[in-house]
Amino acid sequence: MSNTDYYIGLISGTSIDGIDCALVQFTDDTPTVVATHCNPIPATLRAKILRLCKGTGFDLQSLGAIDVEIGRLFAASTNTLLQYAGIPASAITAIGSHGQTVFHAPKGEFPFTMQIGDPNSIAQLTGITTVADFRRRDMVVGGEGAPLAPLLHRNCFGSDTATRVIVNIGGISNITVLNANDTCFAFDTGPGNVLMDYWIEKHQHKTYDESGVWAAQGKIMPALLELLLQEPYFKLPYPKSTGRELFNSEWLESKLKQDELAANVQATLLEFTAQTLRAEITKSTSPQEIFICGGGAHNVVLMRRLQALFGDVPVASTSALGVGPDWVEATAFAWMAKQTMAGIAIDTTALTGAAKPVILGGIYRV
Ligand SMILES: Nc1ncnc2c1ncn2[C@@H]1O[C@H](COP(=O)(O)OP(=O)(O)O)[C@@H](O)[C@H]1O
Ligand SMILES: [Mg+2]
Repeated sequence: MSNTDYYIGLISGTSIDGIDCALVQFTDDTPTVVATHCNPIPATLRAKILRLCKGTGFDLQSLGAIDVEIGRLFAASTNTLLQYAGIPASAITAIGSHGQTVFHAPKGEFPFTMQIGDPNSIAQLTGITTVADFRRRDMVVGGEGAPLAPLLHRNCFGSDTATRVIVNIGGISNITVLNANDTCFAFDTGPGNVLMDYWIEKHQHKTYDESGVWAAQGKIMPALLELLLQEPYFKLPYPKSTGRELFNSEWLESKLKQDELAANVQATLLEFTAQTLRAEITKSTSPQEIFICGGGAHNVVLMRRLQALFGDVPVASTSALGVGPDWVEATAFAWMAKQTMAGIAIDTTALTGAAKPVILGGIYRV
C-alpha cells in the first residue's frame, strides 16, 4: 500500500524576487505539485535584505528584526497558499522552509551559511510543524551546504537511458548531472540572472529583463565577455558553490569601463550566463538531454542561446519532466522536510562534497 502525505516547500532565492510556495502531495517518495503561490516581497523589505547581503549598513538589532519579518511573511505566504488550495493546515504534515540566504561562506576555518526567516514564527503562525536550517549540518560534515535542490533532481528526474543535465537558472545557476547508470554530481556554475537583474534595475528600474528583450537589443562585447570569463571561480573543481558574496554589483562594476552602452552590457551578461553554463557542463559531462528550471527558463533569449550553444542536444523546461520550472526548488524543500521528519540521513556526498550522509534541518513542532 502506498502512503500519501502533504508537505509545503518554501524558498526565497538569491534573486529575492518572491517567496515560492509549493503544496506537494507525496505518494511514497514521488511528488506531485498540487498548488502554488509566489508571494511578492515588498520593495522595502527587498532593499533591507540586499543591504544585509552586502554586510554593510546594518546592526544586530536590524538582523534580528528582519529575521522575524521574513518569518512572518513566509507564514502569511503559506496561509495564502492554503486558502487558495482550500486545504486546512491540519492536512499538512510539515513545511520545509529554506528561508532567505543572506550570506554563504563555505570555505575558511569556520564555514557557515546564513538563511533567515524565523522558523518559530512560521510554525506558530501557520500551525504547521516546520523544518528549517537545512544547509548548516551539511557544512559540519565538510559539505558546501549547497546546492541542495539536486537532491530532488536525483530523486525525480533521472533516466535509465540518457545522461541528463538539470540546470537551475536562478540568481545563481546550478547544474545536476544525472548519468544513466544512476551516478550523479552537482555544483553551482556561477551567475544565472543576478547580474542581469542588477543591471536592468540600475538602468531601467525594472527588477528583471522580461524574456531577455533588452539584452536582445544590445551587442555582445567580446573584450568584456573575456574579462568576465577570467573569474577564478570558473577554474575551481567541483564541488563548489557561490552567491552574491562574489557575483555582485561591485564585481561587475569593477570590470566595466564607463563608456559602454547599457544594452550592450546586458547582452554580454546574458551571453556570459549562457557561455559559463555551456563550459561548466561540457567540461564535466557529455549531456544527451538538458532540462532547465528556475526563473531563467522564462528568458526566451537565454533559452534560445543555450539551445544554439548545445546544438543537437535538446534543451527543454522541466515541465517536460512533470514539475514546472518555477516550483522545482520549493518542491525540493518539501521533499527534504519529508526526509527530516522521517529521520532519514541524506546522502549529499556527490552534490556538496559532504563526507557522509547526515540528517539535514531542525524541526520546530506545533
Ligand atoms: N519572464 C521572465 N523573463 C526573464 N527573466 C525572468 C522571467 N521570470 C523570471 N525571470 C528571472 O528569474 C529570476 C527569478 O528566478 P528564481 O528561480 O526565482 O531565482 P532565485 O532562486 O534566485 O530566486 C528573476 O529575478 C528574473 O531574473
Ligand atoms: Mg526566486
